[in-house]
Amino acid sequence: MQVIDNLETIRAQASGWRLAGESICVVPTMGALHAGHMSLVEIARAHADRVVAWIFVNPKQFENPEDLAKYPSHMEADIAKLQAAGVDALYAPTPDQIYPEGFATTVSIAGVSEGLCGAGRPGHFDGVATVVTKIFTQTQADCATFGEKDYQQLQVVKRLVADLNLPIDILPCETVRETDGLALSSRNERLSDTDRAIAPALHGALQAASARLRDGEAPGPVIERAKAEIEAAGFTRVEYLELRAARDLAPFKDLDEPARLLVAAHLGKVRLIDNIPV
Ligand code: PAF
Repeated sequence: MQVIDNLETIRAQASGWRLAGESICVVPTMGALHAGHMSLVEIARAHADRVVAWIFVNPKQFENPEDLAKYPSHMEADIAKLQAAGVDALYAPTPDQIYPEGFATTVSIAGVSEGLCGAGRPGHFDGVATVVTKIFTQTQADCATFGEKDYQQLQVVKRLVADLNLPIDILPCETVRETDGLALSSRNERLSDTDRAIAPALHGALQAASARLRDGEAPGPVIERAKAEIEAAGFTRVEYLELRAARDLAPFKDLDEPARLLVAAHLGKVRLIDNIPV
């Protein structure tokens, strides 16, 4: 596996593959790879001749400097995992490759970026959309994998691709969970032992709420009850818990169309997100 840290080399490599008629799938990540990321790699391998993994902790999507400073990094272990998984190239650019001096462009997506995580993390999805646009153009990928764990991000990226007619297929991948239901996340390693024991209550509350909704209970009381359950389990604060249309995150109307329950909640200093279909 090649480890590439600059734009010229990834461009040359990607152009070479394309000239040889080979397709490319990119797996965008911020590193600290876990089984969820590796499932994205597997899906990428099944869809293209060449797989490029991307690792870059994108400063523009962190509205909280402490969260950025504490974001885990395990580059050596990540390289070993990607190599073992048969990835062709890891592109881990330096910040100046992505945001050279004078960089002044922001890609901003209205509607689907608003509310949910967009409300609690101002500027976050502008940062995501800007770097994702660069990921797509720099790697010249035919397809890209995105986890459903970041469900709003997935919808933002789909909107970006549709609106800008980007020639890339977005491959959504199901959330990978611990056996107790906790969605895998690089942030889980920042949980204390006590908080790690509490954390699965987030998924538990979503599952119970989804079952109640399917049984015909009214959304308002179901959501209030789920929030109370999460706080009673020991979470410090529920930032949001909302029912939205699964297709585009529009406000929920009825269960005739697929819906999604989405939550963000704080446990100690760690902010966890999760979502499930209803
Ligand atoms: O989901 C992530 O890890 C990041 O938001 C992404 C897509 C790599 C952009 O920095």
